[in-house]
Amino acid sequence: MYRTHTCGELRIEDLNNTITLAGWVQTIRKFGSITFIDLRDRYGITQLLFNELLNSKLDETPIGREYVIQVKGKVIERTNKNPKLPTGDIEIEVTDFAIMNVADTPPFTIEDNTDGGDELRMKYRYLDLRRPVLRRNLELRYKVNRSVRNYLDTQGFWDIETPFLIKSTPEGARDFVVPSRMNEGQFYALPQSPQTFKQLLMISGYDRYYQVVKCFRDEDLRADRQPEFTQIDCEMSFVEQEDILRIFEGLFKHVFNDVKGVNIDYAFPRMTWDDAMWNYGNDKPDIRFEMKLNNLKARNKYSDNSPLANDRIDFKVFSEAESIIAISVPGSAEYTRKQIDELTEWVKRPQIGMSGLVYIKCNADGTYKSSIDKFLNEEQQKQVATFCNTNNGDLILILAGTEARTRKAMSELRLEMGNRLGLRNPDDYKPLWVIDFPLFEYIDEDNTWAAKHHPFTSPKPEHIGWMDDRAKYRDILANAYDIVLNGTEIGGGSIRIYQRDLQEKMFAALGLNKEEAQEKFGFLLGAFEYGAPPHGGIAFGFDRLCALLGGQETIRDFIAFPKNNAGRDVMLDAPSAIDEKQLNELKLKVAL
Ligand code: AMO
Repeated sequence: MYRTHTCGELRIEDLNNTITLAGWVQTIRKFGSITFIDLRDRYGITQLLFNELLNSKLDETPIGREYVIQVKGKVIERTNKNPKLPTGDIEIEVTDFAIMNVADTPPFTIEDNTDGGDELRMKYRYLDLRRPVLRRNLELRYKVNRSVRNYLDTQGFWDIETPFLIKSTPEGARDFVVPSRMNEGQFYALPQSPQTFKQLLMISGYDRYYQVVKCFRDEDLRADRQPEFTQIDCEMSFVEQEDILRIFEGLFKHVFNDVKGVNIDYAFPRMTWDDAMWNYGNDKPDIRFEMKLNNLKARNKYSDNSPLANDRIDFKVFSEAESIIAISVPGSAEYTRKQIDELTEWVKRPQIGMSGLVYIKCNADGTYKSSIDKFLNEEQQKQVATFCNTNNGDLILILAGTEARTRKAMSELRLEMGNRLGLRNPDDYKPLWVIDFPLFEYIDEDNTWAAKHHPFTSPKPEHIGWMDDRAKYRDILANAYDIVLNGTEIGGGSIRIYQRDLQEKMFAALGLNKEEAQEKFGFLLGAFEYGAPPHGGIAFGFDRLCALLGGQETIRDFIAFPKNNAGRDVMLDAPSAIDEKQLNELKLKVAL
């Protein structure tokens, strides 16, 4: 028997028992004639005591960090207890030990606060995963997975697998493709999601499907994006939007309670997409704090009582701007020159892309001070402050420029100020639904319309008539919804189109002619002819959900073997070239 207990198991109740443990050597501390070793496994850490007798044996067969050893010994009470460790009341007085395997010195310390940089940790991911912090993350991931499955089981959902070698699914990213040896010159695409399959399952009558499933998207990577990631993918038949929101709000609450002990006992707030954009500047608002956007001027839209509307002041940056947006930062009127300069540099970074930042300090004594005093007299500053519902002591920050860029920049600045003021506590969970998304999105570069969610999303019934009129595309709303948590889009879905003619109309609006639509999606259009039920669904970003439940925004450390920011697996050194023989078999030539 390799062990009688794990390294996380022994307690004061086990005193005097003779036990066997096996695990990895975390640390070795020598004190004269005795040695302490911390022994680690997945379950925890137990302290070992090598007394004088065994110490001499240790000298003959030295043990190093990360060696795998087995020890026999007696559980004794520690004189120096460690309240931070569950096993901290006891230690093992070792009577015998054996080295089961030696280890090279690890390239970084296997501790929560490691000295290893990202790339090094990724290269030796199997060592990185030994760190307790990662072990806790993966444990959380497992628990969320289990909790999701339990809930969906009680709601009658079946887990049904769908294939990975498929034809393209349009979720807005590029496909990863796989060449087919047996079908020369032809390629599979890896699914960006199982979207079309889950719809086909509804047509087959498998109401209430789910899957915890890998999705593959070739897109630019960010902290919350991986080229392969996992979705909790769900679909239901004979449902309206309201049914979906109810069932999946239930899932969310169940998981939070089950995994975190957090009881969310209220209905999630709902915000229209339009309100989210207007008040927060993006469609995934962080509602843990206020600091809403004040629209002093916006493209095609003036706020009637705005003191800066209709070019009332003679300041070029404002009068030439499509949009002027302000936030009121609470209690920050005393920002120093240096702090303002630093913020100005922050908005000028290429990622934010603004040319400058205007401020108005609303001093505690009721006076005002602005970076554009020359153009905006004190009375006008006061009017802006009134418009923005600013309190004395607040700092108004104003950005001006083109609509889309200014709105996005202000939404970023709002989050940044939220961070600086400590208003974004990761333990404070504020979920909401964003609803009434537009059906289409205009793509400037190509002068085309794309599906805002995906092409299978249905328009609001009252807007179907507008699909014949391009001028109306911007106003057509979809039966689409996102679930947002603390500024992150955790999931999204829609009520689907289930009639062939409407689906064809949708494809046509997206610029696919009949032949193209048939070639790409003939299987789905055909299936709609054989009794497709009304249906709808949603998919959650499982990695994102786990990261947020773990109090972080980066998903990488919630995935056992992630890719780096360039989409590489640095441990495997993938992707990599393939040899000539394989290329020949696939009838491929690399044109580099
Ligand atoms: P969508 O594209 O919105 O919808 O994806 C659903 C959720 O998946 C997560 N997500 C990602 N997570 C990590 N890395 C990525 N690259 C990544 N891309 C998306 C997000 C997102 O909310 N088929 C539809 C769902 C439906 O309509 O039912 C779909 O895939 O959290």
